[in-house]
Amino acid sequence: MTALTATPAWKALSSHHAQIKDVHLRKLFADDPGRAERFSAEGGGLFLDYSKNRITDETLRLLLQLAEERGVAKRRDAMFAGEKINATERRAVLHVALRAPRDSRIAVDGVDVVPDVHKVLDAMADFASRLRSGGFTGHTGKRIRNVVNIGIGGSYLGPEMAYRALRPFSERAMTFRFVANVDGGDFTEATLDLNAEETLFIVSSKTFTTLETMTNAATARAWLVGKLGSDAAVAKHFAAVSTNIDGVTKFGIDPANTFGFWDWVGGRYSMDSAIGLSTMIAIGADNFRAMLGGFHAMDEHFRTAPAARNLPMVLGLLTVWYNNFFGAQTIGVMPYSAHLARFPAYLQQLQMESNGKHVDFDGGVVDYQTGPIIWGEPGTDGQHSFYQLLHQGTKLVPCDMIGFCKPLSPLAEQHDLLMANLFAQAEALGFGKTEQELKAEGSPDFQTPFRVTEGNRPTNMILAERLDPATLGSLVALYEHSVFTQGAIWGIDSYDQWGVELGKVLASRIIPELDRGAEPKLSHDASTNALINRYRRHRWVR
Ligand code: F6P
Repeated sequence: MTALTATPAWKALSSHHAQIKDVHLRKLFADDPGRAERFSAEGGGLFLDYSKNRITDETLRLLLQLAEERGVAKRRDAMFAGEKINATERRAVLHVALRAPRDSRIAVDGVDVVPDVHKVLDAMADFASRLRSGGFTGHTGKRIRNVVNIGIGGSYLGPEMAYRALRPFSERAMTFRFVANVDGGDFTEATLDLNAEETLFIVSSKTFTTLETMTNAATARAWLVGKLGSDAAVAKHFAAVSTNIDGVTKFGIDPANTFGFWDWVGGRYSMDSAIGLSTMIAIGADNFRAMLGGFHAMDEHFRTAPAARNLPMVLGLLTVWYNNFFGAQTIGVMPYSAHLARFPAYLQQLQMESNGKHVDFDGGVVDYQTGPIIWGEPGTDGQHSFYQLLHQGTKLVPCDMIGFCKPLSPLAEQHDLLMANLFAQAEALGFGKTEQELKAEGSPDFQTPFRVTEGNRPTNMILAERLDPATLGSLVALYEHSVFTQGAIWGIDSYDQWGVELGKVLASRIIPELDRGAEPKLSHDASTNALINRYRRHRWVR
């Protein structure tokens, strides 16, 4: 038995779960009229109603006890203090410093990092404003109108998600594109209609070594030089964001257009660092700073709010509750906003790269489940596709539902339709429809069994005033800290990602084996050998 499953709180939660696992939300609500009010909390501009969860006061008490026994608050304080809590990489985990106000002080190895953070932010603001105003022109003197971010993983998902989310706040006269995939189709489609004279590429890569990004960056350079006929054009059409300034210099990007960050920022925690340069160009420095303000508000809430009213803590603990005690394999995230279409994809990396681990801090293999599979689509789209399974399938899929009280679209009357659907879905998932109710409504006997909707499907409802930069920052920080809470409970390092390495190494071995002229002696497993051979035969047949 490991430390986690041996804790008194874990054992108590196991027996408690056995007692309440079949209790229906209908009963919980009928027995407890104050439940909606009690099981809700506010922080960082977000409201969380978590009353439609299969919990009682006792559940919450035990989950909070588990957090206490696992030292979540202590570990949180260590993170905020700049301690090297990413033990396998011996690094501090300080994305919270990226949004710390100018007058705060956060030290890593005794050095205050806040002044450097603001120095980079100021340089980004200057660059963004010159681009937006037309002060920064391309090689032929034309104004830059297109920005193409080249990056993958954390150097892509955050920028693309934020651009889409905050499009109503963006400079509409400019075009923003995102190239991530090493499939040449991604670059080709993204640049097909762009005028090179008006295009800036931002090469975003923490390491500046990632195969996909380096390949696409080289393609972009060839595309640009091919169109503008001069290597000198690179200086006016490329910017870079990286911790590897040497790598950037070797690539030939002008140091004046280069923005750094630090090894204490994880890739999936970097959208508010210089990796957000495309976001800042799109929405302007003031809006970007408002977004940082939202992040910081949630950081402060997480740092200071009592555990029972602490949104990220509660969200993280509920994830543990379903993941480890109900055996739920997945969590759905359904933002009721077309602008948040990429939010589930963003959260996939944030959560699954962080908490998809099978060894604990001490290197021991865990004997409990860790990070769930995260997935989702915006509502109402999902309702007409996979919600059937959520309502009547055999799997328990707890869902986070996200909505906004005020619309941003001028088609404001449609907002009530959107929100009505959001509330209705959470109601239907939680309370369903019984056979009795159906019969009373005159449902024909032959149909009734098929129409019964069991309910008792848990949801968290996250509501905010409107989807603006501050709200987006707060929402992202909510999930960052929920992921932290989960990782601290499971005793895993949420800030490394060793599991992605093997595939990279194997790919670099296979790349030369696919070469047209090569006559490779393949020594993979039989399946991989056969697939490579088949590919080679088909690839090079005229
Ligand atoms: O392969 C995974 C990963 O290392 C992610 O953690 C990271 O966000 C992504 O690749 C991109 O890395 P980089 O920003 O260094 O190009």
